[in-house]
Amino acid sequence: MAAGATAALVGLAVALGSGVGSPAAAEDPAALTGIILGVGANEAQRIVTWYSSADTAQKVQLAPTASLVNGEFPASAATFAAVGGANIATSGGYNRHTTLTGLLEHTAYSYRVGTEGNWSPTYAFKTQDYEGDYDFLFYGDPQIGSSGDVAKDQAGWKETLDVSLAANPNAELLVSGGDQVETANTEAQWTAFLAPDKLRQYPWAATIGNHDVGGKAYEQHLFTPNTDRSAPLYANGNPASNTSGGNYWFIYKDVLFIDLNSNSYATSQGGGGDAAHVAYVTDVINQHGAEAKWKVLVFHHAIYSPASHAKDGDAKVRRVDFANAFSNLGVDLVLQGHDHSYSRSYEIKNGAKANPAEQPGAADVYPGPGGVIYVTANSASGSKYYDITAPDKSGTSGAGNGADPLNPGSYWYNSAQNQEHVRSYVKVQVRNDRLVVENVRSGTCAAPNAAVERGLSCSNTPAGQPVGSITDKVTVHPYNADGQQLQVNVPNAAPGEFGWTIDGYNGLVNLGTAQEHNGDYFDATGNLNPITVSDSRRSLAPWSISASVSDFRDAGKTFSGAYLGWVPRVLNPGAGAKASSPVLSAYDDQGQGLSVSRGLGWADQGHPRGNAQLGAELDLKIPASVEKGNYRATLTITALSS
Ligand SMILES: [Fe+2]
Repeated sequence: MAAGATAALVGLAVALGSGVGSPAAAEDPAALTGIILGVGANEAQRIVTWYSSADTAQKVQLAPTASLVNGEFPASAATFAAVGGANIATSGGYNRHTTLTGLLEHTAYSYRVGTEGNWSPTYAFKTQDYEGDYDFLFYGDPQIGSSGDVAKDQAGWKETLDVSLAANPNAELLVSGGDQVETANTEAQWTAFLAPDKLRQYPWAATIGNHDVGGKAYEQHLFTPNTDRSAPLYANGNPASNTSGGNYWFIYKDVLFIDLNSNSYATSQGGGGDAAHVAYVTDVINQHGAEAKWKVLVFHHAIYSPASHAKDGDAKVRRVDFANAFSNLGVDLVLQGHDHSYSRSYEIKNGAKANPAEQPGAADVYPGPGGVIYVTANSASGSKYYDITAPDKSGTSGAGNGADPLNPGSYWYNSAQNQEHVRSYVKVQVRNDRLVVENVRSGTCAAPNAAVERGLSCSNTPAGQPVGSITDKVTVHPYNADGQQLQVNVPNAAPGEFGWTIDGYNGLVNLGTAQEHNGDYFDATGNLNPITVSDSRRSLAPWSISASVSDFRDAGKTFSGAYLGWVPRVLNPGAGAKASSPVLSAYDDQGQGLSVSRGLGWADQGHPRGNAQLGAELDLKIPASVEKGNYRATLTITALSS
């Protein structure tokens, strides 16, 4: 009894002790400013960063919006303790950040930063499905302050965010092309950049530009996940100096993003230069490339751009240093800024145009292995534009800036170039079998358009080129290395040969969304892309087509290819073709399904000459215990004939 009573007293004393601190904090409340929602390491995370006038312990409070009552957070709200330190003298005050983890999909969240008794206003964001298609938006150089009028630059920046997110309310990421501000440590410019509330509702994936690098304000304002702050990734090789830097990566729903500090360029300045970046990208892709379906690089200094920076020495060097590595590593898309103009490259492979026949402005491109598309974004704020410049005679590959033989006013590497002196943003649609990239006008010549308001000409014609219209759109059908056996195009067989081709350009067979059956199993069906067999040999030798499937994978998740079965069919008879026997999913017969080689069709010795078209109804039946995901497998098709 006595011991129990003592314990209760101790407990009460502790509770009182913790309460004593609160009035002291309330006497001197910290001013909480510059709150921004940042991208986390994956789709289930966000990072919140802010400034505080006082060096107090702070946190983020988070709860599903549906659980708030009259704007009050419930007792069950989660808290995430913030960390941070003192800002450099020019910034003043303190910075704080924390990572929100364990976010649930399809949830509207509310959050606020601060301490008990001194909270910021409440902001909200939502999560969406953690699998499947999504859109993200890419913004070039807001560079607030660049026009000479911070208020006008802020107005254009806010308008682009508002217009782009009104048109794309379900966009999931806002990706930066760098140069958030004109002057690295001018806090008034950061305040203007951070003013739009959209930056507290959608996660910002920060990128450092040359105008951000000259101080610590970039790092203080924009904390990023998985960030490597080692010396080679700083322009001067000194992370402790009054500069910002570092590279980082994150995976968001099947896209591996790698964001580079392209200010670290010249080893003579102390940084690791391009070799350090190539080593970093190689390392990240080797470790994490298999966890995503697409690889997107982001850095500020465009290497294939159309305007004032097109012939910069660093761009020329990097067209040699970077292009081979990015091709070899299977990068799909590179997003860039710095040249305040829009461009979309041809498929670039190892520093040269991959396919000389690719037409300017082609609506669909099919990069083969090593093909990379480079996009440069124009100004999102209207603070500054650079005019398109003319090609020279320095060559049409590598470091050269020669003219495009198909479009001589344009650089050899660019499929599309645009400059009207109006604000725009780049929309990227991530789909299972394609990326769609478009450059969308978010303004016209009219205000807010700071550079034009301050005297620059403007060539946009609002009647035909209004807000929301596009200057360029391309669907990229990336090379699917895992499915190459399905994408092989074998030429039509010459007379007297045996051959086979797969109909269609892209080998991906989409089985759609599996349907659940009574909680027992999932079922998905589809059709194999038809395979045309031709046999015009005199020998009339037998032939057969067979196939086997790999395991189905989605990042770290996997299930056996044995769950795939099929019913082969002869779609168009000829060449003596017969359909092979059906194969059941392992779910039905505990067998090996298509995980081992199975016949699709065949013909006997002495069959007639001619063509046949073979197909199969695919049946994927998997246990209900398989984890949700967007899985892919490779079907390897083999033809045999004696
Ligand atoms: Fe810039």
